[in-house]
Amino acid sequence: MHKIQEHNIFMESTNQTLGEFIIENQEEFQYSSGELSRLINSIRLAAKVVNHEVNKAGLVDILGSIGSDNIQGEEQQKLDVFANDTFIRTLTNREIVCGIASEEEDSFINIKGLKKENENKYVVLIDPLDGSSNIDVNVSVGTIFSIYRRVTPIGTPVKEEDFLQPGNKQVAAGYIVYGTSTMLVYTTGHGVNGFTLNPAIGTYYLSHPNMKFPEDGYIYSVNQGNFSQFNEGVKKYIQYCQADEDNRPYTARYIGSLVSDFHRNMIKGGIYMYPSTKSNPNGKLRLLYECNPMAFIAEQAGGKASDGKTRILDIDPTELHQRVPFFCGSKKMVDKAEEFLKEE
Ligand code: AHG
Ligand code: MN
Ligand code: MN
Repeated sequence: MHKIQEHNIFMESTNQTLGEFIIENQEEFQYSSGELSRLINSIRLAAKVVNHEVNKAGLVDILGSIGSDNIQGEEQQKLDVFANDTFIRTLTNREIVCGIASEEEDSFINIKGLKKENENKYVVLIDPLDGSSNIDVNVSVGTIFSIYRRVTPIGTPVKEEDFLQPGNKQVAAGYIVYGTSTMLVYTTGHGVNGFTLNPAIGTYYLSHPNMKFPEDGYIYSVNQGNFSQFNEGVKKYIQYCQADEDNRPYTARYIGSLVSDFHRNMIKGGIYMYPSTKSNPNGKLRLLYECNPMAFIAEQAGGKASDGKTRILDIDPTELHQRVPFFCGSKKMVDKAEEFLKEE
């Protein structure tokens, strides 16, 4: 028999869809009256719109910089702005959250109800387009989201404290990777599940149930161009990864899109690092939009996330756009990196 016929080509149409999965697992959210489910549904919808735009990026005038910087002084790409607007509008028009904070916005957004006071319980934090430097060269990018229950009273305008919660208070987090196929991967604190989009019919199917990081791995992902700027502990750990001993040297893989690097490492086993450098003492990645959601997913998949010393999810944030060094991946590898950093 021809090889392709051995595969179950009907898998996609018989697997559970994301919509069915959300409905069936609704009782996992103890306090929610369907609100969190509707919220994840809206994210799924916005992700389809962004996916469509990302896919035709070379055909329409959406590549390149928009000519402005975001609050963090980074050049905004047209797709950064498109993705940001799409997620914010989709969530705002449905009046499904009470507040949104985005990597691309100076401050958080309070969502006011049009007809009545906004009585929603959840706030969303988002990196609308992760890995934007890869857009122009047709390499995978992503979206990262993080969801919390607000801490201020329902029906009042949201405040900064609703967003400055430690990652261990997240009720859900996920990412979309716009790769060779588009996948939505998320957790509500009951394991991690991955859904693949069939672009022809616009439906996500459960393709990766109960995703787990291998306990140990052989891939390390770091921007080694910064080597001279790393501290001694990080340098020594990288040399450990490269040493010709035991099951090493490891393989180096670095895409430059956190979402894609994380996704590969979760499937194959590996560690992602964005350490502090001389010029960026807190590293580059943002605690609220990038590290916390990825750390929640990592732990739910049996992995680990640390700033080198402390568990990412236990850090008390002090500002919206705060940055933090990030070491995340297979548990044994992150433990090992921490050992080297401790010796510092
Ligand atoms: P963003 O595109 O949202 O600004 O994030 C880019 C991040 C992350 O995705 C990636 O791993 C890292 O920046 C790459 O940074 P370097 O180019 O410094 O390696
Ligand atoms: Mn990012
Ligand atoms: Mn981004």
